[in-house]
Amino acid sequence: MASLKEQIEQLTQEINAFAPASPADLEAYRMRFLSAKGLVKTLAQEIKNVPAEERKEAGMMLNGFKQLAEGRFAEFEHIAAAAAEAALPRTDVSMPGTPIPAGTRHPLRVVENEIVSIFEKIGFSVATGPEIEDDWHNFTSLNMPENHTARDMQDTFYVARNPDWVLRTHTSSVQARIMESTQVPVRVICPGRVYRNETISARAHCFFHQCEGLYIDKDVSFADLKQTLYYFVTEMFGPDTKVRFRPSYFPFTEPSAEMDISCTVCGGSGCGLCKHSGWVEILGCGMVHPNMLRNFGIDPEVYTGFAFGMGVERITQIKYQVNDLRLYSQNDVRFLRQFQKL
Ligand code: DAH
Repeated sequence: MASLKEQIEQLTQEINAFAPASPADLEAYRMRFLSAKGLVKTLAQEIKNVPAEERKEAGMMLNGFKQLAEGRFAEFEHIAAAAAEAALPRTDVSMPGTPIPAGTRHPLRVVENEIVSIFEKIGFSVATGPEIEDDWHNFTSLNMPENHTARDMQDTFYVARNPDWVLRTHTSSVQARIMESTQVPVRVICPGRVYRNETISARAHCFFHQCEGLYIDKDVSFADLKQTLYYFVTEMFGPDTKVRFRPSYFPFTEPSAEMDISCTVCGGSGCGLCKHSGWVEILGCGMVHPNMLRNFGIDPEVYTGFAFGMGVERITQIKYQVNDLRLYSQNDVRFLRQFQKL
């Protein structure tokens, strides 16, 4: 039988020549050399058979052998791990990312934002009020007492729980709340949703959006109203837009007017949008009625003001030729996406 020394020499050669081709090879190596019954342990037990004078040298050889066997194993394990990692699918950082579909702003919000920012530029601030409103703020304080015929102009939704509550029919209710809670002078723009009991069609809806404006101060005149609205229109529809005011009636303003702009589609020569008149109506306005000022303790001898109210759908229709009100609430992304870049 070969001596311990010879065995170690031979196994050392084996280990030096060993190159695992697979994890199974490496496991076989581990079993053969490093396991509980592997050669590193079994050879160590043979040291007792070595003559005493050779034991020291044999012990050193055994130690070297053990270190070699373990060292090579660690080395191979490391190589195998690196190879396994290299085999993993790589992330190609130059590949285009997975698109995350982003929502777009609703066209009505786009236009509302535009209206608001035009007025903000000339010192108006934004005010909002509740959509469920009481009779006082929606009607009575606006110079529309009970049984006033003007209430018939607006088909009102009443809230069943309380006969005094309505879904506000216009944002003029916010005017009332502002006069009630704010010291004059005041200059606000009030965007919001309003409700009317209308049969839904291309031209009517049971809810829509308005923007109300209110300016109260000393010496506010109808000329201020006209100039403010003219500024708005040229900002919104372009510098060539013309305006005209027609006398009208609203209970909360005196005098009252409706404002038309020259048709933005045909420029005035006549088309479907302007019904061949060259003009499209865009808002109602007027000087705040003295009764309304009095309702909120504002002295009409000292303060005057103007107010106006416009439909956001109407402005959007004119600006983007949307011809069916129902499109705004159908949530058809093909429609909504068209406003993506706005
Ligand atoms: N509230 C009116 C409506 O809904 C619009 C309106 C007209 C508002 C004249 C005003 C105004 O502030 O002065 O039809």
